Parts: sequence; C-alpha cells; structure tokens
Amino acid sequence: MSSSSPRHSLTTRLFHASLAAAVIVQLLSSLWMHRPRGTTPGNNFFLVHEYAGMVALALAFLFWVTVLRRHVGTAPGALIPWFSAERRRALWADVGTHLRAARALTLPPHDDKAALPSAIHGLGLLLISYMAVSGTYWYLMSLAGLGRSAFVAPFMELHGLLGNVVWAYLIGHAALALLHHVTRNLSLGVMWSLKS
Ligand code: HEM
Ligand code: HEM
Repeated sequence: MSSSSPRHSLTTRLFHASLAAAVIVQLLSSLWMHRPRGTTPGNNFFLVHEYAGMVALALAFLFWVTVLRRHVGTAPGALIPWFSAERRRALWADVGTHLRAARALTLPPHDDKAALPSAIHGLGLLLISYMAVSGTYWYLMSLAGLGRSAFVAPFMELHGLLGNVVWAYLIGHAALALLHHVTRNLSLGVMWSLKS
C-alpha cells in the first residue's frame, strides 16, 4: 500500500458508517421504547428498534465479510488477536505503551499497526454482532410464542445488560476518534470520507 492509499477501503468506510448509524438508532430508540407486555403491543419506538436492529444484523454480517475479504485495512487477526500467542504478546506490549502514555496524560503517537486499538475495535464489532443476533433470535422465537422460554430469556437479559456497554463503547470510541482528530494524530477522514 503506498503512503497515499486510503487506510480503509471505501466498502469498509460505507459499512462502518451505516453500522454506526444503525447502532445510534438502536440506542436512541431503546430510550423511549416499550416492549410488548401481555396483550399490550410494543410502541412505535419498539418497532423501529426491531426493524433497525435486523438491518444492523445484516450490516454487521456484511462488515465481517468485508473484513475477511478485503486487501486494504486492518488484518482480521489484528481485530481478533486472542488465538495467536504472537498477537497476544504484541497486545500486552501495546497495553503497556498506552498505560505509560496515560500516566503522562498524553496519547501514544498514532501507529497504523497498534495492537490495542484494533483488538478493542474487534471486541466492539463482536459486541454489536451479539446484540443484533440475540435480538433477532428473540424476535423469531417470539413469533413462535417462545420469547420468554428458558432458552431465549437469558440471552435477552444479557442483551439488556450489554446495552450499557454499547453506550460506553460508542461514547469512548467516538470521543477517542475526536481527540485523535483535534490533536492531529489521526484524521476522522480516514474512516468518514466518501472518496474512493
Ligand atoms: C457503535 C458504532 C461504531 C462501531 C461498531 C464502530 C466500529 C469500528 C471498527 C470495527 C473499526 C475498525 C475497522 C477496521 O479496522 O477495519 C472502527 C474504526 C474507526 N472508527 Fe468506528 N465504530 C463506531 C462508531 C464510530 C464513530 C461515531 C466514530 C467517529 C465519531 C468512529 C470513528 C472511527 C475511526 C476514525 C476509525 C479508524 C481508526 C483507525 O483507523 O485507527 N466510529 N470503528
Ligand atoms: C445493534 C443491535 C442492537 C442494539 C445496539 C440494541 C440495544 C438495545 C438496548 C440499549 C436496549 C435497552 C436495554 C435496557 O435499557 O434495559 C435493548 C433492549 C431490547 N432490545 Fe435491542 N438492540 C439491538 C438489536 C435488537 C433487535 C434486532 C431486537 C429484536 C428484533 C431487539 C430487541 C430488544 C428488546 C425486546 C429489548 C427489551 C429487553 C428487555 O426489556 O428485557 N434489539 N436493546
């Protein structure tokens, strides 16, 4: 890749932006929605949550396919480093670099190959995938009247709990991206540009 090549392919950038928009719709709709209870149906925010959530599932799936098939951008093994001893070593070394920088109240200089940010991005994508899969599973099982059964309810309990982690991920990830942008460490344009 030449130094003038984009860091992320247009397909990655399009799926990233669409998935981020879908997640924001999910989080906002969850603030006002009322799920169906007994004979009382869910409200319109709940309908938005259901349908936009299933769109998020399709987008998350296409994002994973892009990650596996693309030739430009982060390697799949950098997003999911947990199964490689070498990548785990690089990850712990990078955790050390970030801790030292945090103690000095600075950001480490931006490094395209840094292991920690990629591992966190991978966890974020796994988190969103879980939310979308568990919600869709609940939806399909509810159609068969099994939404409250013992093999569905625990996954939805976790869906509710992890909703808080999605808020934390979105706020933390976007805040860091903005901080990198204003400190001229990494432009937001690397992920939010529509140039091919
Ligand atoms: C919940 C919604 C979001 C999810 C699930 C998400 C997920 C991701 C993932 C998986 C990557 C790594 C992509 C790759 O390396 O191939 C990434 C990178 C990035 N994201 Fe997000 N993102 C979200 C929202 C945002 C928002 C709102 C912003 C900015 C305000 C943002 C800015 C960025 C930037 C600048 C990068 C590139 C980082 C780099 O190249 O080092 N993201 N995001
Ligand atoms: C990216 C995908 C999704 C995200 C980020 C997400 C996020 C959330 C959040 C933040 C909550 C509120 C948790 C709380 O305050 O207790 C929630 C609840 C819920 N979501 Fe999702 N959701 C997603 C996909 C879906 C899908 C696809 C469905 C169904 C088609 C769904 C159905 C529900 C239901 C039924 C609840 C209520 C759970 C309860 O009250 O026990 N979600 N979701």
